[in-house]
Amino acid sequence: PAPGWSIAADVVVVGSGVAGLTAALRCEAAGLRTVVVTKARLDDGSTRWAQGGIAAALGEGDTPEQHLDDTLVAGAGLCDENAVRILVTEGPDAVRRLIETGAHFDESEEGGLELTREGGHHRRRIAHAGGDATGAEISRALVEAVRARGLRTIENALVLDLLTDAAGRTAGVTLHVMDEGQHDGVGAVHAPAVVLATGGMGQVFSATTNPSVSTGDGVALALRAGAEVSDLEFVQFHPTVLFLGADAEGQQPLVSEAVRGEGAHLVDADGVRFMVGQHELAELAPRDIVAKGIMRRMQEQDAEHMFLDARHFGADMWEHRFPTILAACRAHGIDPVTEPVPVAPAAHYASGGVRTDSRGRTTVPGLYACGEVACTGVHGANRLASNSLLEGLVYAERIVADITASRADDGLHARVPAPVEHPEKPAHPLLAPEARFAIQRIMTDGAGVLRSAESLEKAAGQLVRLHSDARDALDENGKTAEPGVDTWEATNLLCVARVLVAAARQREETRGCHWREDHADRDDANWRRHIVVRLNPDRT
Ligand code: SIN
Repeated sequence: PAPGWSIAADVVVVGSGVAGLTAALRCEAAGLRTVVVTKARLDDGSTRWAQGGIAAALGEGDTPEQHLDDTLVAGAGLCDENAVRILVTEGPDAVRRLIETGAHFDESEEGGLELTREGGHHRRRIAHAGGDATGAEISRALVEAVRARGLRTIENALVLDLLTDAAGRTAGVTLHVMDEGQHDGVGAVHAPAVVLATGGMGQVFSATTNPSVSTGDGVALALRAGAEVSDLEFVQFHPTVLFLGADAEGQQPLVSEAVRGEGAHLVDADGVRFMVGQHELAELAPRDIVAKGIMRRMQEQDAEHMFLDARHFGADMWEHRFPTILAACRAHGIDPVTEPVPVAPAAHYASGGVRTDSRGRTTVPGLYACGEVACTGVHGANRLASNSLLEGLVYAERIVADITASRADDGLHARVPAPVEHPEKPAHPLLAPEARFAIQRIMTDGAGVLRSAESLEKAAGQLVRLHSDARDALDENGKTAEPGVDTWEATNLLCVARVLVAAARQREETRGCHWREDHADRDDANWRRHIVVRLNPDRT
């Protein structure tokens, strides 16, 4: 639909997690007219759910070089070493600036930051807040800073599509705003720079640690705009998510890696520590190895879950160090102080996303991406625990530096966005909201933690049918579902699911968090490379 209202800015930031709000605050500080648009409320994204913390070489004796080594090992041969080097060397100062912005991290008795360990890290380098409520504290601090500085924000605003000028440069976004008074319905923010920070796509699966807003909107927008997307097959399954039943759906409670970092044991139905002997770091091996270890033992024992045993922490430590997890377990009738916690892997993080360079630039001029929506190259085939908040911070700051430099180079700031045309795009078959659940079931069955050619082919066929059913309805009535958040979310989920499955079918090997039962080994000769996808923007 054509926009009913429009506003102009220098930069529009889409999303309000650690990446989006950091970008917005730094843009505003650089004198850029900045508008933040976000699908729900400012603090409704994934950032606030992050538990374990933020990784950076901040501890005595630790170095960026050691952080680099651990990140490259976890990434299983597909990290961009330069991107990781930027992350680990700029990371410590970025964390210090986050503290200056107002985030309070837990401190040790000596007064420095208290650091913990997580899977794949050979050192204690994870800073945390409120014990296990790191994301909530970061979100609180950034939202308060955004409000204190009076940044322009539009909440309940689902971004639909990128606007481009005649030369193919970014010229803003269209968005659908619900119940926000002045700017309601479909409108546009015109700006020569758009920063996508829309988070992940965990909702493409039935059970995920991600909140309900994580529906791949940024990746879908970028694909429709003709931007390159990379590594979508690398979906990370967090090894220890509270098991609430085999048919549990939607967002599931996370049991942080930090619980293992502080000494919890993974045990099977017989109480045996099955990770010992599988990897030198046992329960603290990189995440993909622990997730696979759990799945294998579940298969061997025909069990629906394994257990995380941290009874030896005692009540004081549970209450002081892991209050959020303790409360979540108790809310579901499990007391970790007196019994082992049932856990199983669930979808957690998209290691791939919209492909960017080291300044956060996508392949569409003026379109940037940072945070989980982006594929900067730092995660490779498997993200190292607690590198995601750090990536959001570091690359958001790099984007702002690039926008500021472009302003100096070509007058971006002064440039009034060129008149934007709204060409009639080919009709888009919007999916009915219920399609979301069908997509989640298809993806969980066919493209979940264990994949094969057969399971992926079946999933691909089912997804194509969902698309063609929507198209047929469109041809018959000229209209499918009513445009709205639910229909756009289902449509975006289908878009990213199809690309994810296509990439997973293509990658005939097991690497990082992509696990093919029919190609059980890593194949460096053929597959030490990325799968990059770009859709024809005219295709529906
Ligand atoms: C966790 O606390 O286990 C999550 C850390 C992460 O996903 O990086």
